[in-house]
Amino acid sequence: MLRYTVFKFTLLLSVCYGYIDIGKYLKVCDRNSADVNDCIAEAVQNGLAVLADGITELGVPPVDPYRQKDLHAEYNNNQITAKMDMKDIYVHGLKSSEIKDARLRADDDQFYLEVDLTTPKVFVTGQYQGEGRYNSLKIAAKGSFNSTMTDLVYTWKLEGVPEKKDNETYMRIKSFYMRPDVGNMVSYLSNDNPESRELVDIGNRFINSNNNWRLMYRELLPLAQANWNKIGVRIANKIFLKIPYNQLFPALS
Ligand SMILES: *[C@@H]1O[C@H](CO)[C@@H](O)[C@H](O)[C@H]1NC(C)=O
Ligand SMILES: *[C@@H]1O[C@H](CO)[C@@H](O)[C@H](O)[C@H]1NC(C)=O
Repeated sequence: MLRYTVFKFTLLLSVCYGYIDIGKYLKVCDRNSADVNDCIAEAVQNGLAVLADGITELGVPPVDPYRQKDLHAEYNNNQITAKMDMKDIYVHGLKSSEIKDARLRADDDQFYLEVDLTTPKVFVTGQYQGEGRYNSLKIAAKGSFNSTMTDLVYTWKLEGVPEKKDNETYMRIKSFYMRPDVGNMVSYLSNDNPESRELVDIGNRFINSNNNWRLMYRELLPLAQANWNKIGVRIANKIFLKIPYNQLFPALS
């Protein structure tokens, strides 16, 4: 009876105050400890396995595979204009990442975290509908796409500022930055439009030969980075705005 009452009371507390024991999901690190960076590297490494399936209680979506409902992209330079609507995008592979290092610079007023990682293979699939113009040549295509990237080496950079809510301080993540170095990339567009089939085939062959993908990667990186920043900030804040800063990164020592 007592246990039941205690249980009910705890449940009531957690419903009223939204208390979430983050330790259930993620290793918590003392932000003042001398080995906080090792602790965070381990926390992120173990955390990826948990985040892969998402954390329902916090509203964190599964990150491996990560599903992005849609993405609109536009590209212009002198000769080329292109528009592409992508949907049902799935990104596989994040959970096989290896966390190499972490660097935290944090106190009561600021939060800055860098995490170095490598990912052996990222596979992206989705549906697309696109339109492009090359000088006077117009082409329309739709179908599916996929892209396999290998040997990614990169650093996540997260920046946060404190925010008070109901007498608690949270650290709102304001920016998430990364610029992956990619070892190799192979991409394909399938095309349901017979009129442009040949051109898209040529495009596939072109992009997959002579490291031409590097050109595409460099040109499309700003678009991708804007997209990653939005996703990274949103996912990080599912945790950072729900768990008070002093529980997520307590200052114990
Ligand atoms: C915040 O703390 C003050 C002083 O301890 C208290 O009077 C107030 O009711 C608290 N507000 C909330 C929203 O908990
Ligand atoms: C990627 O797409 C191409 C063209 O549609 C297809 O032939 C290939 O099997 C796909 N690759 C994978 C790994 O699904």
